[in-house]
Amino acid sequence: MKTDRELKDLWIKFFTKHGFKRIPGYSIIPENDPTVLFTTAGMHPLVPYLLGEPHPAGNKIFDVQRCIRTNDIDEVGDSSHLTLFEMLGNWTLGQCNKKEMIKLSFEFLTSPEYLNIPKERIAVSVFAGDETAPRDDEAYNAWKECGIDEVYFLPKENNWWALGGGVGPCGPDSEMFYDTGKPKCSENCNPSCDCGKYLEIWNDVFMQYRVKEAGAKAEKLDKPNIDTGMGLERTVAVLNGAESVYDSGCLKKVIDFIGTKAKKNYTESKQSTRSYRIITDHLRSAVFILGDEHGVVPSNVGQGYILRRFIRRAINCARNIEFDCKYFTDIADIYVDEYGKDYTDIAGNREFIKDELVKEVEKFSKAIEEGHKEFEKVIQGIEKHKEFALKNGQTVENKLSGKAVFRLYDTFGFPFELTKELAEEKGYTVDKAEFDEKFKEHQEKSRVASAGVFKGGLADDSKQSARLHTATHLLLAGLQKMFGKQVIQKGSNITPERLRFDFNLDHKMTKEELDEVEKFVNDAIKREIPVTCEIMSLDEAKKQGAHGTFNNKYGEEVKVYTIGDVSKEICGGPHAENTKELHHFKIVKEESSSSGIRRIKAILD
Ligand code: ALA
Repeated sequence: MKTDRELKDLWIKFFTKHGFKRIPGYSIIPENDPTVLFTTAGMHPLVPYLLGEPHPAGNKIFDVQRCIRTNDIDEVGDSSHLTLFEMLGNWTLGQCNKKEMIKLSFEFLTSPEYLNIPKERIAVSVFAGDETAPRDDEAYNAWKECGIDEVYFLPKENNWWALGGGVGPCGPDSEMFYDTGKPKCSENCNPSCDCGKYLEIWNDVFMQYRVKEAGAKAEKLDKPNIDTGMGLERTVAVLNGAESVYDSGCLKKVIDFIGTKAKKNYTESKQSTRSYRIITDHLRSAVFILGDEHGVVPSNVGQGYILRRFIRRAINCARNIEFDCKYFTDIADIYVDEYGKDYTDIAGNREFIKDELVKEVEKFSKAIEEGHKEFEKVIQGIEKHKEFALKNGQTVENKLSGKAVFRLYDTFGFPFELTKELAEEKGYTVDKAEFDEKFKEHQEKSRVASAGVFKGGLADDSKQSARLHTATHLLLAGLQKMFGKQVIQKGSNITPERLRFDFNLDHKMTKEELDEVEKFVNDAIKREIPVTCEIMSLDEAKKQGAHGTFNNKYGEEVKVYTIGDVSKEICGGPHAENTKELHHFKIVKEESSSSGIRRIKAILD
């Protein structure tokens, strides 16, 4: 039996031995990146470095990164999909020696000192080639040299890795699978098949290309990289010969706990198993989001909406298995005990997490029974309509109107996706287009972001974004000058058009205060101050009074950007070279972001 902890320790031991330097994982809420709501992969916060910025820790690094992916949310409840997972990642920056990386991967997977998987149990896939990039014979040959028999060439849809939305560094990859030994489901069965014979555990991405903007062609990177990521939970399951990711570790603990309180058993029915797993998965994600240093709470926009969906879906599943939601806080305790050891922000936010869970449960529990009654009424209405139509030789679609779905959302708090799921269980579809229309009409303000892609983001190293990034540093300096050093950055989001900056302050800023901060920034711009960057230890940065987050546990090298005597911040960059490039700074809006947090939107014109 291998535990999560043992696998993490082996990862650390292995890559340290091979000269890689450990870097801390990042928050689950990305900074400075409007392209996605959550950190979705270990490489995600490292995009600037994959595009050529030097990393302060050097060019061989590794970490353990908490990730959330919601694109497979409907699959959660099966044996392997999770919305939250920990990714073991490692990177070689500025070099792409495939043979060397494949040899390392092979050693970690098969060596008795590490994972000890028999090589006959390993299958791999490599890129088959297309108009963008040639067939990856180099990777193929490297695996063959290691003695792997099952090496498959697969097309772009399987063996090309890019961030969701396709913008940023990307390239062909080589995925590693555990072959369960089950017979092939057909002659064509290969690792991309989901029959259960092959389980993916690791991915080596050869980042030799980049896509500059949506729809553009991939261009070769001058400095290619290797980005690898191993899914912790899936690999532990494989090493334990477990049927599902819920059969070991902390997830099993939660499944077992639910079993002691729920009226229905875990294996009683397919729906029951699925409900147990969804509660287990979604509450873990909720604990990570609520516990994050950025402190997101349930809401109807952005990350807050995803969080709300997680909790409300868990409440609905609890109803299915007759499990009292008052026990959600016990589940939160199990997770905080487990993950608080590695993530200090989660440990520090235990009570906040539990309070917010209780609040959301209270809010939704009142409405859920009524909502279910309403839902049944809608279904009965359609059935009646159908009967009637049939008599007249007409047919009626099994489809809920957007209006009905919107009513469930607006009056009963049913997230769209929850209604869709309930409808699908009954063989109904929902009218999404009409729902969207109603939604827009009634909630102009409320932007329900999916993990969709906007312009900008970390992959955007455009001059405009770099200028706005520098303006953000000046803005913080101005705010600190006015209100004191206790004002800190609570969030930042930059697109090439504008910056958005969240910070702690207990009041709405007055017109005079806004004018003064704006003037502070414009004065710094007029002084034409050079922006300089130095690499130093975290301790040294602290000593020099650099602003930044210091909650990392181990001594590491950081980049510090200094703007004369105005600002000193720990930051990954990139930035303008001189404040004069910013021309003129203008605050366009100051508003509340959440309790005690203000938000400024500003532009450079
Ligand atoms: N970035 C690669 C992945 O997430 C390693 O699979």
